[in-house]
Amino acid sequence: MTSVTKHRPKRSKKKRPPLSAGSVSKHLLYQASVQNVEAEIDFVDQTYFDLRCRRAVRLREDFCGTGHTSCEWVRRRETNLAFGLDIDVDTLAWGRENEIARLDPSQRERVSLLQRDVLSPGDAVGMDCILAMNFSYWLFLDRPSMLRYFRGVRESLADGGVFFQDFYGGSESMEEREDERECELPDGRAFTYIWDQHRYEPVTGRMHCKIHFAFDDGTEMRDAFEYHWRLWTLPEMRELLAEAGFSKTTVYWEGDELDEDGEPTGEGNGEFTPTETGEADPAFICYIVSEK
Ligand SMILES: C[S@@+](CC[C@H](N)C(=O)[O-])C[C@H]1O[C@@H](n2cnc3c(N)ncnc32)[C@H](O)[C@@H]1O
Repeated sequence: MTSVTKHRPKRSKKKRPPLSAGSVSKHLLYQASVQNVEAEIDFVDQTYFDLRCRRAVRLREDFCGTGHTSCEWVRRRETNLAFGLDIDVDTLAWGRENEIARLDPSQRERVSLLQRDVLSPGDAVGMDCILAMNFSYWLFLDRPSMLRYFRGVRESLADGGVFFQDFYGGSESMEEREDERECELPDGRAFTYIWDQHRYEPVTGRMHCKIHFAFDDGTEMRDAFEYHWRLWTLPEMRELLAEAGFSKTTVYWEGDELDEDGEPTGEGNGEFTPTETGEADPAFICYIVSEK
């Protein structure tokens, strides 16, 4: 599945010693292969502005991991505030030491990484935007727990607040398969990202996915990340969001990348526009945008 990862910008290449499984952080590899925080924040910032005719200020990143997206938010404007919520102490610590530490002092003051369950956000409320990205919310395996999460998100939004989720689907999402993609760190060093849809149970909808990384020296980082998810559908999500009280949900669908003859290459182009239908793409990615 190629489109599970969003369109990524090209990075500059410099000569460095090749990577090896024992010599690089899995979080750096994840950021370089899975995340595209610049494009994600572009979408969030512009969509909120289009919907509300004003700029968002307070953003909460649920399941924030290293807080990579929160850091991008506070870099964007000097009024922006970010709150990242995650339960994993070690991942948050890596984020503080490696992401927050790279911010300048004024940016650092405007981002808080909080060790909190997204179901108990405490004072991380009154948000203009809440983000649940890279499908993390699929860890809620049944309707009651997903509904509880969505209700909590809605209550955490300020008036006019907007909830952003990404979503993937299509026939390939139900296959047990591995897909590889060549990636590189910002310093140009190459590695292979392996998305492993390890197990899928059609009766329960449960899936077990893994991320592995492989390197040119023959070493591998197996099971760097593992996810026990339910593979939800878009109509199920929109029905639950409505039940949770959101006044409107809109699906933004990714356009096709075109080759020099104007023919679709089969890859996404990173541009997302509203649709009420979508297309029967075997591997699609989209955003769900829900208004309080
Ligand atoms: C797939 S990562 C998402 C990282 C990042 N948000 C991204 O967009 O790539 C999922 C994260 O969710 C965190 N997590 C799992 N259950 C959680 C919960 N109930 N509350 C907060 N964080 C949770 C995990 O610790 C992990 O860091």
